Amino acid sequence: MKNILVTGGTGYIGSHTVVELINAGYNPIIVDNLSNSKIQVLDRIKTITGVDVKFYKLDCTKYDEFEEVFKNEKIDAVIHFAGLKAVGESCQKPLLYYENNVGSAIVLLNLMKKYDVKNVIFSSSATVYGEPKSVPFYEYFEVNHATNPYGETKIMIERIMQDFTKVNKGFKAILLRYFNPIGAHKSGLIGEEPVGIPNNLMPYITQVAIGKLEYLRVFGNDYDTVDGTGVRDYIHVVDLALGHVASLAKFSNDFSWIAYNLGTGKGTSVLELVNAFEKANNIKIPYKIVERRPGDIAISYANADKAKKDLGWSTKYNIIDCCKDSWNFQNKNPDGIK
Ligand code: NAD
Ligand code: UFG
Repeated sequence: MKNILVTGGTGYIGSHTVVELINAGYNPIIVDNLSNSKIQVLDRIKTITGVDVKFYKLDCTKYDEFEEVFKNEKIDAVIHFAGLKAVGESCQKPLLYYENNVGSAIVLLNLMKKYDVKNVIFSSSATVYGEPKSVPFYEYFEVNHATNPYGETKIMIERIMQDFTKVNKGFKAILLRYFNPIGAHKSGLIGEEPVGIPNNLMPYITQVAIGKLEYLRVFGNDYDTVDGTGVRDYIHVVDLALGHVASLAKFSNDFSWIAYNLGTGKGTSVLELVNAFEKANNIKIPYKIVERRPGDIAISYANADKAKKDLGWSTKYNIIDCCKDSWNFQNKNPDGIK
């Protein structure tokens, strides 16, 4: 196994995974339509790794365009990151999300079948668990309802991949359910670049830290948690990237599909993350407690034992590392990657 097709490879998690694939001796080939990332990411990857990664600018929902890649390249496995991910936008534009996310997965599987590419890793999410009755979340928990169309696309694609691999002998899908990725590559050259005002907590904090936003709004302090604020499992994006590299070895086993949680197994509240950021970077983050955000759950964190046992993977970075690296990227790129 050598050549890995990485869809969405110029995006936040994709770019970090491409770097770790190169570090591990793989040959990644990137496909991205640049709808939520920049071409300059390729230069940054080259600066970090010394490698000029092969890149195709195309839309994965367009069968004919995407087929060119399968005609030109010998592909051993695909890591499918390409997708739209803004929860709020998915409620406003559900068709766009179903068309882009579910559509691109179906086109991909059709091409994999035609060109006999048998291995795929899919970017799923903790959101597929909805609001379970207990924590931590285990892979065997029911996957039934998400709270928004974005989450529904993840559930649908998981099902499609399961149905496909069950009847197509030799095809294998690894469904990776990410918890909350934060942090950035140590170099500060690649990281998360939200468009407009960030929805997610860490990019909001870093924009307050750099003075672009005045204060953080903490969405509710009356949850049944350690300090009343929401609890999540924040995982360093480099650890997450390494989870993909570790998963590739699993393809030598016999299975049709398998799901893994990629998280640290630890919950951190909003105020704990704010405190960790202040301590790690010596910067004060002003905040105000406001109403709960509709659709939020109180607590989400992983049981990540299955990935540890099966893949030999576990996280290396702690929350202070995450806070330092997120800030380093924001500070080095105040106006984004140029
Ligand atoms: P991102 O937006 O940074 O990366 C996704 C990339 O896919 C972007 O570069 C975008 O341009 C590209 N893309 C989108 N639609 C495409 C299409 N039709 N054809 C080609 N390229 C397309 O997002 P990310 O945070 O790196 O997330 C990667 C994957 O992980 C997504 O599928 C996302 O849903 C999933 N995920 C992310 C999180 C998170 O919190 N970041 C959590 C769970 C799951
Ligand atoms: N929060 C605030 N203020 C903010 C932003 C967030 O208090 O400005 C709180 C939220 O209420 C929540 C916590 O910070 O308690 C984390 O919120 P995020 O928006 O950063 O993350 P979510 O857990 O809501 O969702 C994210 C992605 C989803 C993905 C999920 C699991 O947005 O797409 O992680 O991977 F499905």
